[in-house]
Amino acid sequence: MSRSAPPAPPLPPAMPGPVAVPTQPASRPQLQMAPRATHIDRRPDSQSESTWDKDAVIELLDVHKAFGALRVLDGVTCRIPRGEITVLMGPSGTGKSVLLRHIVGLLPPDAGDIFVDQRDVPKLNERDLLALRRGIGMLFQDGALFSSMNLFDNVAFPLRQHTSKGEGEVREIVMEHLVEVGLAGAEKRMPNELSGGMRKRAGFARALVMEPSILLFDEPDSGLDPVRTTLLCDLIREISKKYNATSIVVSHDVGAVRRFADNIGILYKGKMRQFGTQHEVELSQDEFVHQFFNASSEGPLGMD
Ligand SMILES: Nc1ncnc2c1ncn2[C@@H]1O[C@H](COP(=O)(O)OP(=O)(O)OP(=O)(O)O)[C@@H](O)[C@H]1O
Ligand SMILES: [Mg+2]
Repeated sequence: MSRSAPPAPPLPPAMPGPVAVPTQPASRPQLQMAPRATHIDRRPDSQSESTWDKDAVIELLDVHKAFGALRVLDGVTCRIPRGEITVLMGPSGTGKSVLLRHIVGLLPPDAGDIFVDQRDVPKLNERDLLALRRGIGMLFQDGALFSSMNLFDNVAFPLRQHTSKGEGEVREIVMEHLVEVGLAGAEKRMPNELSGGMRKRAGFARALVMEPSILLFDEPDSGLDPVRTTLLCDLIREISKKYNATSIVVSHDVGAVRRFADNIGILYKGKMRQFGTQHEVELSQDEFVHQFFNASSEGPLGMD
């Protein structure tokens, strides 16, 4: 990283509301973390540390969610370590996007607890939810740009919506982030004049303008060619580290995941089948995890 910036500010303090926000959940169900790797050679570097040892900024505890008869999350538990990149993997339709939407309070769980920076997300009122979301940058699966606004206005939108900054300052911030994601010069283009990769990077710039301490990326690499996937993954790593952000990245690209993941969660059939450091997941003896993480055709997972 060429220049260093001060770490992103912590989330604004929870506003007083009718709901008491506990600092810790009252009861914690058994975490389904990767077993501590006592029987294996531990690496001398930080990868040998277990996610158990780390400070968590996001906690999901026994989260359940169904849509009618479709049970999507069936007791998901995980702790997302602060200041690291955690990748969420799993077959298509398994609930990865649904899980992210729970973290920002766009979907309520049927049961279970979700804490973000010690705030009890499902219990937050509208005002506190908005305050929470101001501290979270989210890149949706499809980029989710407003089709009627040009690139500049799309990226400026959160600043104009959530801050009282003047247009001069807005321009300065937007241009800084457009340069960061390699889109300087394209600011007048409409979304339909941008390539898929450019739209992703535009969504990325928009996720960054509020200097969030938490970044959620839903398949930032889908639909990109291999070179752009690598470049985007490097950008995610660089920017996450630059802002000292806690990032969750949903990705199917095992090669890319190996490049930037500190921790990996693998969701399958409504449960977090494995959650641990990349090193722990690589060493997993679970045949599904092994098949998925190695993108192998051999294993329990078939086309069905
Ligand atoms: N608001 C909703 N109402 C009803 N069903 C939904 C809703 N949102 C998601 N689902 C269903 O929940 C399941 C999980 O969806 P989700 O989008 O989380 O999958 P995913 O793991 O992100 O898949 P992909 O890798 O293809 O993006 C799917 O069967 C989907 O149709
Ligand atoms: Mg999805």
